[in-house]
Amino acid sequence: MNASVSQKFAQDDVVYADANDFRCLIGDYSDRRALLATDASVDEENKTPLPADIGDLCRLHRLVRSRKVTTVLEFGVGFSSVVLADAMRRNRDEFAKQIEANVLRRNNPFEVHSLDANAEFVELWRDRTAHEFEGLLYYHESACRMGEFRGRICHFYDSLPDICPDFIYLDAPSQWDVEGDVRGVSTRHKDRVPIAADLLAIKYFLLPGTLILVDGRGMNARFLRDHFKRNWRYRYDQDGDVHLFELVEPPIGDRNRAQLLFCLGQEWLSDAESIT
Ligand SMILES: C[S@@+](CC[C@H](N)C(=O)[O-])C[C@H]1O[C@@H](n2cnc3c(N)ncnc32)[C@H](O)[C@@H]1O
Repeated sequence: MNASVSQKFAQDDVVYADANDFRCLIGDYSDRRALLATDASVDEENKTPLPADIGDLCRLHRLVRSRKVTTVLEFGVGFSSVVLADAMRRNRDEFAKQIEANVLRRNNPFEVHSLDANAEFVELWRDRTAHEFEGLLYYHESACRMGEFRGRICHFYDSLPDICPDFIYLDAPSQWDVEGDVRGVSTRHKDRVPIAADLLAIKYFLLPGTLILVDGRGMNARFLRDHFKRNWRYRYDQDGDVHLFELVEPPIGDRNRAQLLFCLGQEWLSDAESIT
């Protein structure tokens, strides 16, 4: 690692990325925040994949590994899909025996399901990664349209992967990929931002212990926070500009309890069980 690279990024991220062979997965490390300060990330014409942000990717990998995540739902294909799939492969190698022993009985064990409204990007990433992550990484394409949640204008994908995730990464859609309008209002205006309501629609399907990470998308996070019912523990990490929502509730049954104990530990479970 040369000195200029190690100075540019948080040292512990570089150490973590090196220890987990990120260079083989994603190539050179970069800092996407520099790009986000420009208009490139909201440029409708930009078809070059956004560079991988080492800080964001390390955060995702650490969360999936430390929480022993078994099923990921990702909104927005990209380098993140690759890193999530790698973390999942490591979880599979380490924890598959417990799953096979039917302790947890997860039905999509060690799978990342990544959804995107942009056919070109789905194709591009499928081509790049299909071989390496067979059985681990599944791509889904669906249109995304303007709609309403309880009279509030927002948008929904037409179709979601039919899975029960314990980790959700919300990093899409692009504001340009949302079709239609509601009474003239759409996200396809440079001063607007995406407001995805899909997680509100499925909130009662989500199991205790589910963690949602919203990448940037501050207005979307506020919208979710205003409308989420149930006991979500919310935290904003200003340095990384990410919003975390964790569903801290008593387990809904023995299987969910076994999963929480295995994945998140006794302390987490006792805390959740103390909630009435
Ligand atoms: C923030 S990107 C998702 C990035 C991905 N999660 C990652 O971390 O690599 C959100 C969406 O914007 C769309 N998009 C539009 N222009 C893009 C570009 N230049 N690079 C990557 N994604 C782009 C893609 O369809 C993508 O799902």
